[in-house]
Amino acid sequence: MYKRPVIECRSTSGKVDVDIIPLFQKPAKGDKNVVIPPKGPYFNLVDKLKRSGAVTGEPKTTLFVRFSGKGQADSVLFSGIGPSGELVEERTRIAGAVVFTKLSSEKSRSATVSLEALGGDMKLAQAFTEGFLLASYRFDKHRSQKKDDHGPHKLVFTAKRKETVKELATALAKSEAAQDAVTITRDWSNEPSNYGTPIYYAEEAQKIAKAHGLTCKILGPKDFEHEKMGMFIGVGQGSKREGRIVVVEYHPKGHEKAKTLALVGKGITFDSGGLSLKPPAGMEDMKHDMTGAATVFGATLLAAKWGSPNRIICVMGFTENMPSGNAIQPGNVLVSRSGKTVEVLNTDAEGRLILGDLLDFAQDYKPDALIDAATLTGAVLIALGKHCGAVLGNDDALVQSVIESGTAVGEKLWQLPLFDEYFEDMKSEVADMKNIGPNSNGGTIRGAIFLKQFIRKGVSWVHLDIAATAWDMGQIPYYPKKGASGGHVRGLARLAMDF
Ligand code: BES
Ligand code: ZN
Ligand code: ZN
Repeated sequence: MYKRPVIECRSTSGKVDVDIIPLFQKPAKGDKNVVIPPKGPYFNLVDKLKRSGAVTGEPKTTLFVRFSGKGQADSVLFSGIGPSGELVEERTRIAGAVVFTKLSSEKSRSATVSLEALGGDMKLAQAFTEGFLLASYRFDKHRSQKKDDHGPHKLVFTAKRKETVKELATALAKSEAAQDAVTITRDWSNEPSNYGTPIYYAEEAQKIAKAHGLTCKILGPKDFEHEKMGMFIGVGQGSKREGRIVVVEYHPKGHEKAKTLALVGKGITFDSGGLSLKPPAGMEDMKHDMTGAATVFGATLLAAKWGSPNRIICVMGFTENMPSGNAIQPGNVLVSRSGKTVEVLNTDAEGRLILGDLLDFAQDYKPDALIDAATLTGAVLIALGKHCGAVLGNDDALVQSVIESGTAVGEKLWQLPLFDEYFEDMKSEVADMKNIGPNSNGGTIRGAIFLKQFIRKGVSWVHLDIAATAWDMGQIPYYPKKGASGGHVRGLARLAMDF
């Protein structure tokens, strides 16, 4: 099973395999940036290599030199970051990931980097470590032969002054916490649906919540009836597996003025489409359709670990969308928890149905902010591609906070509009509304405007459509090539710290 590398903070590295030397650039004549030779033992070497063009300091570049023997290590790895200034934190996070991957291919087991080499900037040390750890993730739980593990298992971060070492350790512990939370989200998302059943996630959530000192409540079919969650029940009724709703709560100690953030996640453990069956190609990806739930859970754990001053109510709805003799049928009418009725014209638009009930349920906790995360629409991939998630909401200030928190940790988000006009042709002849529009235009907005019907007056709400960014994000070096990205966990946790 995957075990992340350990991070050590010390004043000297001791014996390690590789010295990591980050290289920054400065603007030269024209638009060109040139590498700045680093202070210390590698100044002359870099100065020489610079002239031959072997090192440029460009982002994502590395140069591995064996047996230079100048520092504590036998080898040195130069790692390009680009210019300091705008976006340097994200470029440093990427450098951390590129370094991890390079060290793995060189079969190096341990490495060191100094805070001074990152300009003494704690934020950059944290970002570098975060990228390094995020890139180390593997999902090999279901392989009978685990792959040989040659990746580095230790990163020693050094700082010259004793007091600085302490401060560094506190900063890097935050990156370690981030990795541990993202690992849970990725593991959950990657789990095949024959293992990752609603009951599995509920039991895991309970175990993990307990280990984090959080409370956890699990609701089953009787509770869904009692709560009159007609939409949640409807979606799950075609499956042999029982659904579960899991409520995890974090209450900070000694924060009188704590605000309440409610996080709601879509946890469809497998989305076959139901009777509106999906085509076979790519259907296997629908094991990831519970990533919204995995994301809000990861964010809750991380915010708790970081000691958020705000309360968090995390509501996850797990159920399976399957065709069967008992499945909901197109044209069926469901009565939601809120009392509003819905004509289900496409059983594959199931996420909005379960979320409608979950959002209504979460509002009973009187949150100051309500945020849901869901792999809601294929349309978000068409609208925005794989580079950012979609944000829609009824409170522009909250939308902006969500965008800023994400962007600050490399998780790009973009706002889409939520004009009420989009709802006009979703009104039904036989019920209060339909679960789809008349065509596929503006699909992501349609999903969100449907959810908006379940938001009570005065409640600040934001919806994140993460269908494009939840998996297969290999274009970013700190995400796995294939499978769950674990994106949006760090950003949401950051938001919970301060919203
Ligand atoms: N889980 C899917 C959305 C999805 C599709 C996520 C592809 C990731 C990749 C969702 O439940 C769904 O099927 N949505 C439909 C909505 C449509 C029927 C209005 C979609 O996007 O096609
Ligand atoms: Zn669906
Ligand atoms: Zn779905």
